[in-house]
Amino acid sequence: MRILAIESSCDETAAAVIENGRKIISSVVATQVEEHKLYGGVVPEIASRRHCESINGVIKETLGQAQMKLCELDALAVTYAPGLIGALLVGVNFAKGLSLASGLPLIPVHHLRGHIAANYLAHEQLKPPFLCLVVSGGHSHIVEVKDYTQMKVIGKTRDDAAGEAFDKAARTMGMSYPGGIHLDKAAQSGNPDSFKLPKPKVSGNPYDFSFSGLKTAVINLIHNAQQRGETLPVNDISASFRKTVVESLLNNFTAAAEELGYDKLVLAGGVSANSLLRQKTQEECKKHGWQCFYPPLELCGDNGAMIGAQAYYEFLSGNNADMKLNAAATMDIANLTF
Ligand code: KG4
Ligand code: ZN
Repeated sequence: MRILAIESSCDETAAAVIENGRKIISSVVATQVEEHKLYGGVVPEIASRRHCESINGVIKETLGQAQMKLCELDALAVTYAPGLIGALLVGVNFAKGLSLASGLPLIPVHHLRGHIAANYLAHEQLKPPFLCLVVSGGHSHIVEVKDYTQMKVIGKTRDDAAGEAFDKAARTMGMSYPGGIHLDKAAQSGNPDSFKLPKPKVSGNPYDFSFSGLKTAVINLIHNAQQRGETLPVNDISASFRKTVVESLLNNFTAAAEELGYDKLVLAGGVSANSLLRQKTQEECKKHGWQCFYPPLELCGDNGAMIGAQAYYEFLSGNNADMKLNAAATMDIANLTF
């Protein structure tokens, strides 16, 4: 089964043709990062406009690379939630138009389910059940993936997402948007024990996260140093911050795996590109005798391929949309409505 999938939830206009949820036939990502950099973050209105301008070309290019026509496909898929509403609407309406014109079924895909499915494209042997840490710019979830379309969130952030904390810390140190990757690079040559930052703690659910206190602490540290006219030890601050975030993520993730008896651990989302998170997760898995999976770097960020991978399994479980499909800024990963 060949699916043309469309993704436009944030600042990438992307599309892909995916075969049976596992094979990439073609994939095109048009990023808007350079433009949003000017403002230090994504400007929703600009994102929507750029999606409108790019989507036609991106889809033509995706079909061209696949050497396929619409009539050779079996279905269309689109990210319909969660994300920036104006950005999502561009993809959803384009997909609805294509579906109406071609008669192809339309499969609605939850963006975070797509991030998880990026792993299916890279790891042929990976099948649910597994425990997944989904960490992106807007979300930090621990998800029990019981089956391809059956999920349960057992922990999530009470405030900021891990990616958001990385980006804010990076921006305060003068790094360009999105700063997570630059902070990760700077941290490679820093001393992770040079600054003691508060370990995020929450009461109640032991698997929940909190990153806003840590974010504020690192921002205060940077501002204080700047006010004293000191040269900012960017690498050391980055390394200390990265270590604290990764420890917090992994403490909860591994505790949940131990208690719930999972032996397959999976990373997903933009922050799963973080080199320390990948390394430490692998080490923890080795220690416990668990299997460890994460996407290749090119599939960690937003792309259409991951949407096409998840769409295949949504289709198999009967998740089809009609012309009433609407976009939604928020949506529970476990209980989809469309
Ligand atoms: O999943 P994603 O591409 O978009 C959302 O759905 O939000 O995630 C983007 C986030 C940004 O916050 C970005 O800074 C972060 O992923 N990110 C990283 C790294 N690469 C991307 N954070 C830490 N270390 C990285 N290497
Ligand atoms: Zn994403």
